[in-house]
This record gives sequence, structure tokens and C-alpha cells, in this order.
Amino acid sequence: MTRLWWRPLALGLAAAAFFAGAPLAQTMPLAERIKLCGACHGEDGNSRTPNIPSLAGQPEFFLVNQLFLFREGVRKVPGMSELTAGLKDDDLVALAKHFAALEAKPSKEAIDPASAKRGAALAEPMRCASCHLPSLTGQEQMPRLAKQRIDYLIHSMTQFRDDARSGADTQMSNVLIGVSDDDIAALAHYASSR
Ligand code: HEC
Ligand code: HEC
Repeated sequence: MTRLWWRPLALGLAAAAFFAGAPLAQTMPLAERIKLCGACHGEDGNSRTPNIPSLAGQPEFFLVNQLFLFREGVRKVPGMSELTAGLKDDDLVALAKHFAALEAKPSKEAIDPASAKRGAALAEPMRCASCHLPSLTGQEQMPRLAKQRIDYLIHSMTQFRDDARSGADTQMSNVLIGVSDDDIAALAHYASSR
């Protein structure tokens, strides 16, 4: 019984640290927050990390929409919900504006020309351009695919096809119903090469 005094003290300290940390995180200046994002998505918004998407040159609306889905826990990606938790709508818009204004650059992955050519032929009847634009640079809530990382395009299309992306727009799942892994790879090489 004599040693129980430390428990509330330890709990109190932990809580104090937590509540001191929480508002700090929410009021972190934009430039510092952007640096955090850059550690994964690339300092200039062009990702050099497998399976992590580039954000540079994405439509602002698309970015705000995805950040909103992360913050609300609708699209579940480890880390992304924590990083957006407690941010105000204005913070999400500021982050989106920053990355939308950056120049999209090729990902430096090797593009297979034969695969890209096959992907172009597939994309035509599948009408990717009707939503993502003929340049594949995206519009409104539809992302840029041009210059996106090939590995991420394959990953995200596979998730849509297999209904494995939480909070996904059903439009994309419908487009990819029954599409083979080979065809998804071909579409990715084509889209990234644009
Ligand atoms: C620890 C690494 C990491 C950090 C830090 C990080 N992200 Fe992400 N982010 C990811 C991963 C991984 C994905 C994609 C996961 C998936 O769909 O499988 C992602 C996805 C996204 C997407 C969706 C893009 C798309 O094309 O679908 C946006 C937008 C985004 N992050 C913005 C941000 C912003 C803004 C920050 C800084 C506040 C940030 N991220 C910090 C790892 C990170
Ligand atoms: C009817 C409109 C529509 C068509 C047609 C369409 N898309 Fe999409 N696509 C979308 C929307 C909307 C999203 C955003 C999905 C979300 O928010 O979950 C998206 C997202 C994607 C993504 C995710 C990228 C990222 O950064 O997260 C990829 C990859 C993609 N589309 C590829 C394609 C390809 C390749 C085609 C043609 C085979 C295609 N899309 C046809 C509407 C469309």
C-alpha cells in the first residue's frame, strides 16, 4: 500500500506530456509539417520511395479530398490518419495547395516500352482519358496518373480491383473489374510514361 503513490504521478505526467504534445502538433507551422510529408512523399513532392505516391502536380481538389478521407479515418493508411488527425479544413487546403503547385517529375523507374504501348491500347476502350483527361494529369477529384510511380499505380489499381482500398470511389473499382495483373501493369507503365 505504501508504494501506490507513484501510479497517479506517472499517469499524470504521461497525460501532461500527451496534452502538451497534442496542441503543439496541431499548431505546427505549415513549413514544418510539409517537411514531415516530404520525408515520405519526396521533398519536392516527387516520391523516390516504392509504393509511396508522388503528390506534386496533383489536382488540389483530389488532394484535399484524400486528406479529408484520411483525417476522418475513411481511407485507412497507417500513419496518414495520425498525421492529419486534428487538422482544420484550412490546414488540409494549405497542404493541398502546396503540393498541387509543385512540378511533377518522372519517377526514375524503368518504363517498359512494350508494356506502355500495350497499356495505351488498353486505356483507349477503357476510357481512362474521359475522367483523368487525355494528358492523364487529372482534374477535380480525379488524380494525375502521368509521371506517378509505376509501383504505386500498380498497387492502387490492384486495391481498387480487389475492393481493398477503404473509402475508395466505386467508379474506379467498376473500371477495373476482372482486369488481369498483366493488364494493370501495362496500364501503369503507360500512365507513368505520360
Ligand atoms: C510515413 C510515411 C508518410 C508520411 C510522413 C506522409 N505520408 Fe502521405 N502517404 C503515405 C503512404 C504509404 C500513402 C499511400 C498508401 C496507400 O494507398 O497504400 C500515402 C498517401 C497520401 C495521399 C494520397 C495520394 C494518392 O495519390 O492517393 C496524400 C494526399 C498524402 N499521402 C498526403 C500527405 C501529406 C500532406 C503528408 C504530411 C502531412 C503526408 N502524406 C505524410 C505515407 C506517408
Ligand atoms: C468514370 C471516371 C473514371 C474512369 C473512366 C477512370 N478513372 Fe481512375 N479514378 C477516378 C476517380 C474518381 C479516382 C479517385 C478515386 C478515389 O478517390 O477513391 C480515380 C483514381 C485512380 C487511381 C488512383 C491514383 C492515386 O493516386 O491514388 C488510378 C491509378 C487510376 N484511377 C487509374 C485509372 C486508369 C488506368 C483508368 C483507365 C483504365 C481509369 N483510372 C479510369 C475516376 C475514373
